[in-house]
Amino acid sequence: MLTAYDFTTARLLDEAGIDIILVGDSLGQVVLGYDSTLPVTMEDMIHHTKAVLRGVERAMVVSDMPFLSFQISPEEALANAGTLIKEARSTPVKLVDGKPSSGSITVAIKLEGGEQVADTIRKIVDAGIPVMGHLGMQPMSASVHGGPRVHGKSESEAELILRDAKIIEEAGVFAIVLELVPTELARQVTNSVSVPTIGIGAGPYCDGQVLVSSDMLGIYRASFKHVKQYADIGNIMLDAFRAYIEDVKSGKFPASEHSF
Ligand code: KIV
Repeated sequence: MLTAYDFTTARLLDEAGIDIILVGDSLGQVVLGYDSTLPVTMEDMIHHTKAVLRGVERAMVVSDMPFLSFQISPEEALANAGTLIKEARSTPVKLVDGKPSSGSITVAIKLEGGEQVADTIRKIVDAGIPVMGHLGMQPMSASVHGGPRVHGKSESEAELILRDAKIIEEAGVFAIVLELVPTELARQVTNSVSVPTIGIGAGPYCDGQVLVSSDMLGIYRASFKHVKQYADIGNIMLDAFRAYIEDVKSGKFPASEHSF
């Protein structure tokens, strides 16, 4: 799984063969320039999920429920999850080989939390919307846990994560993201639930892995221990922008082959 927030990136990820595209609320930092995910709104998530869906022909798309869209009550959470799915799916159907493509794309939602969101997960799944869980470091509540940090180093925190994983599995999640969790604990969680775990900073024993695309591409230009940088697109962009500025100023661009 990798993140995308726009049509162009989603189309490339889909073509590359990714299984799941996550329209993460990391949108807040890497696209909208906030310093956390908290200001992200339902409208933001709907807007970007629609853009992503327009670029997808086969991958599953998972969209994050933003802060306060699911914490107030299970009823409100279901209404918001329903709105997200309805709006996202209202994107015009694309024809692939003459057949509608988007009908076969699964769109799911993801929400952070353990036992405290179990009833909410149950309600949303009962309404027919697939839900992905998210345990370990949960960016929305990081400020009550001393900021973003590895979760589950102490025995009590590890027990809580294991317990929460079983509770949200029972509530109906189809997969669980484990963020910033010690390798051994992630292995234990993976072995004790039947749904797939998807790790980020959770070691190699999860069933799947996820990264924020802007981090692994070097566009966001922040470095995190859990991220492997697969390309340095940020510097490639900087060089290209500088070369363009230089060419325009010196009169090298546009040349005759770019002119009519
Ligand atoms: O918002 C996001 O991108 C996420 C990933 C870090 C899993 O939740």
